[in-house]
Amino acid sequence: MIDTTRPHQARVYDYWLGGKDNFPVDREAAERALAAYPGLRRGVRAQRAFLANAVEYLTRTAGVRQFLDIGTGIPTANNTHEVAHAADPDARIVYVDNDPLVLAHARALLSASRPNTTSYLDADLHDTAKILTEAAALLDFRKPIGVLLIGILQLIPDEDDPRAIVARLMEAVPPGSWLAIFHPASDILADQMSEVARQVSARAATPTTLRTKAEVMHFFDGLEFLEPGLVQVHRWHPGSPAPDMGDEVPGYAGLAQKAWD
Ligand SMILES: C[S@@+](CC[C@H](N)C(=O)[O-])C[C@H]1O[C@@H](n2cnc3c(N)ncnc32)[C@H](O)[C@@H]1O
Repeated sequence: MIDTTRPHQARVYDYWLGGKDNFPVDREAAERALAAYPGLRRGVRAQRAFLANAVEYLTRTAGVRQFLDIGTGIPTANNTHEVAHAADPDARIVYVDNDPLVLAHARALLSASRPNTTSYLDADLHDTAKILTEAAALLDFRKPIGVLLIGILQLIPDEDDPRAIVARLMEAVPPGSWLAIFHPASDILADQMSEVARQVSARAATPTTLRTKAEVMHFFDGLEFLEPGLVQVHRWHPGSPAPDMGDEVPGYAGLAQKAWD
């Protein structure tokens, strides 16, 4: 059921991206966060650009044909399946989200996409066993998989051990698989960002936990980073110079591979 009495991250994020799938309670939280840090919209656009760049790299350069995109969000331009299918129309994508509004949109998205290539799981990131079992209906766990955790780990508090969650996912995927993460920072523009987190967490179903670069780095333990490693999101641009975005963008992005046997 769609709860319009509390802000939901998927809808707040949709508002920042200029979408229409949000309610007054989401817009109020989103606007309070924007007042705390007016650069936020540019940051979320950089986050979307990272998602597209990472999927493009994985399909066109690394030869990956399967994706597990957890924390999909409300559909917007350049979704994972669109970027992957531009490289290979047979690429397979399993989307996962726990928000009922995302689920409603997913049904429309699936009916418009190429048959048997894209599926959607209504599941929670905490429940890795369910995600892995159900994803195996579409993904072949003998071939490399791109695991995408873009803008979701900040919604898993430390007491829920997000590192163990990521480790369980990366243990289950075969050698040669990849992990892409975007995570908002606690150690860049710290005052503004802690106010952003406070505003989006107030009355929200899920609180936001910002993390330092060292903390985000630990999610990649045991994996091998693609250059440029874990960097501010606007500096992640393999193969071409980083776009000049001026001042600091408070979020980290990285793409790393599980070693081949
Ligand atoms: C900030 S949005 C990111 C959307 C997209 N990945 C992107 O980067 O553009 C975070 C998404 O994660 C979803 N989400 C939050 N907590 C989750 C959980 N525990 N399990 C599954 N999805 C979750 C929210 O519903 C939302 O759609």
